[in-house]
Amino acid sequence: MAHTMVIFGASGDLTSRKLIPALYRLFQRGRLPADTRVVGFSRSDYSDEQWREQLTATTTKYVGKDFDAQSWKEFSKFIHYCSGDIQTPADFEKLAHRLEQLEGDQTIDRVYYVATMPQLYEMAAQHLGQAGLADDSSGARRIVIEKPFGTDLKTARHLNQAIGKVFREDQVYRIDHYLGKETVQNIMVLRYGNSIFEPLWNRNYIDHVQITVAEEVVVGRRGDYYDGSGVLRDMFQNHIFQLMMVTAMEPPVKFNSDSVRDEKVKVLKAVRPMKGADFADCGVRGQYEGYRKEVGVAPDSPTETFAALKLHIDNWRWQGVPFYLRSGKALSCRTTQIVIEFKEPPHLLFGGGKHTAPQANRLVIQIQPAEGIQIHFQSKVPDADMSMRQSELDFRFDSGGTSLPDSYQRLLQDVLMGDASLFARSDEVESAWAIIDPIIAAWRSPAAPAMNSYPIESWGPEASTHWMQDSERNWFDVCPVIS
Ligand SMILES: NC(=O)c1ccc[n+]([C@@H]2O[C@H](COP(=O)([O-])OP(=O)(O)OC[C@H]3O[C@@H](n4cnc5c(N)ncnc54)[C@H](OP(=O)(O)O)[C@@H]3O)[C@@H](O)[C@H]2O)c1
Repeated sequence: MAHTMVIFGASGDLTSRKLIPALYRLFQRGRLPADTRVVGFSRSDYSDEQWREQLTATTTKYVGKDFDAQSWKEFSKFIHYCSGDIQTPADFEKLAHRLEQLEGDQTIDRVYYVATMPQLYEMAAQHLGQAGLADDSSGARRIVIEKPFGTDLKTARHLNQAIGKVFREDQVYRIDHYLGKETVQNIMVLRYGNSIFEPLWNRNYIDHVQITVAEEVVVGRRGDYYDGSGVLRDMFQNHIFQLMMVTAMEPPVKFNSDSVRDEKVKVLKAVRPMKGADFADCGVRGQYEGYRKEVGVAPDSPTETFAALKLHIDNWRWQGVPFYLRSGKALSCRTTQIVIEFKEPPHLLFGGGKHTAPQANRLVIQIQPAEGIQIHFQSKVPDADMSMRQSELDFRFDSGGTSLPDSYQRLLQDVLMGDASLFARSDEVESAWAIIDPIIAAWRSPAAPAMNSYPIESWGPEASTHWMQDSERNWFDVCPVIS
């Protein structure tokens, strides 16, 4: 079956930095379905040849040493361009005509990738529908929507409804590139492909779970956008909740898109709702020093660049096991980690000495920069008495010389194949907003917890450390455990 991928936002950063390199790498690896063509759409006035030239330069840069002139030449023959404005219905007629010319009377599966400003997502879907481009009677028609999907529950619901007027839910692919990361998928293999982890994966053995998405960068040129968004919208509602769902979900009945997503949504539905004083106690918020002086940021900005949250998942597996989630900008290093901290041993056989305090076992799942797993356990100090020390077992996901694909490769391949397992469903997105919205509202009210300042290159406000210590736990403040 031949495929066409139409990219709205063809002249933009995401297209040149991620989408075209990912499609090219799939082509190089023989993983792109035969007869796959790409049609770019944006207002810039390019010919096919001009857009190809631009992409040659950017793909050379972003693919690096894997770029190869011959295979690029073969791939770029299938790249075309159609200039147009998403706001102009007539331009979609023009697009339809161009697609007819290119596709002839072949049966074609088409993917519309909406990689443009979020304000245009709804209109893109609406105008595709009006031009008859969503009609899937002669081949599949799928639409991919980039993040952010709404800015709160109301806007996400509105967007779902607007897209739903044109495309059925099974045609809609809401992307969260974290789900395209191999290690995130590996969490499922770790849990359901082994018999040693899943029996321990519950309240009987786990004390708590920490999920950290730490960024080293400051807001930079994105101050204007970021100040209207903040860390809870930018990181928690999507990436962190995705990691929490994959960590906490029950085993799906089958590994197909609906079974997996059914289990993920159940996690969000089980998150304990907060009320009253809960909003002040449930977390810590902060801004890095100098944030309010960044270009585009209000001098009295109430927007968090750091947040730590404690959530409870009210079901049999996780009752009494808090999930600590945190993310921030301008932190010590760039790392994304899930830390499963097990309960301490119930009885200490080896007494005395400073090395013999009970220590919990930990499983650290590192999502970035390097992808891998580290297990922390106690061992005897060699040639000593029965003193113990912490030891580590490391697994690097790319060990054995396999280089890991960029997450967009996997996700684009899945869209072309019609597999939506690694994409968010409408109820998932809405459930995530339903958790985040009340927290944002409470944190903008007079009852909000104090806004803490923190130095650049730290692990966030000191209040975050103390808040954790108040529950007799400590953050795992370790820059990448696997490098
Ligand atoms: N960049 C990333 O790494 C990244 C990562 C994750 C998610 N995203 C998301 O992906 C989306 C695109 O981001 P980006 O960074 O690529 O943005 P960008 O560089 O600003 O590109 C926006 C694109 O939209 C096109 N466009 C704007 N108005 C248009 C209109 N009325 N009709 C047709 N095309 C129009 C622009 O081209 P013309 O001006 O030529 O029309 C351009 O190609 C955003 O929603 C962003 O949140 C981006």
